[in-house]
Amino acid sequence: MRRKLVAANWKMNGSSAANAQWIAAWRSVASTCDTVVCAPFVYLPQVGAGLAGTGTDLGAQNLSEQAPGAFTGEVAGEMLLDVGCRWVIVGHSERRAMYGETNELVAKKAARAIALGLRPIVCVGETLSERDAGRTLDVVAAQVAAVLAQCSVAKLAAGALAYEPVWAIGTGRTATPAQAQEVQAAIRAQLAAADATAAQQLRILYGGSVKPGNAAELFAQPDIDGGLIGGASLVAADFAAICAAAK
Ligand code: PGA
Repeated sequence: MRRKLVAANWKMNGSSAANAQWIAAWRSVASTCDTVVCAPFVYLPQVGAGLAGTGTDLGAQNLSEQAPGAFTGEVAGEMLLDVGCRWVIVGHSERRAMYGETNELVAKKAARAIALGLRPIVCVGETLSERDAGRTLDVVAAQVAAVLAQCSVAKLAAGALAYEPVWAIGTGRTATPAQAQEVQAAIRAQLAAADATAAQQLRILYGGSVKPGNAAELFAQPDIDGGLIGGASLVAADFAAICAAAK
């Protein structure tokens, strides 16, 4: 039985004051599933200190594929561990689309996280034009294959995959539970072809306009093991309601 995992992806949002308010609200919530807050780099120490004792893990939103050194503006996995991160989002579609992250770079980042003992949440998903062209399963399979070329399913199972259809991110347009389940079952079959046992352990999250009102029916699907939550995670009460739906 896979335990549900719900991760907040704050993206480039927050301030010292807003984070403090969020944390104060979150500290009164007793969450029943595994939870992670992925905060902007500069706020990781603040958020990590605020989450101490809550059972909620700290995560980052990206890491460098490189070891520490002369890489201006980058952040190494070692640094994330140093400030208390246990998780890191890798290959979010915003990074793929806006910062040129290829399948290969995403795979390198996932491998580097795993090598350091950081749990990656590796994001995959198709664009609207890819879906309309009937290429969803091929696109997602290629994204997953690139990661599997560098990381075994057993090692990836320490982290998670997140299926996030690009057309559903921040648009208010959620994939239907059946649409998400179809892709996530295909991902699990692809993982199972490599390692049937580990494929049953690896958590596959859904992300894309998850809200308190639609989370329960998404999380009820057999291959949806939780969520990666963007916009709705900025309000602690909404994130708590989504986590409650993951019981
Ligand atoms: P959203 O973002 O919940 O705002 O759609 C999800 C994500 O991009 O991880």
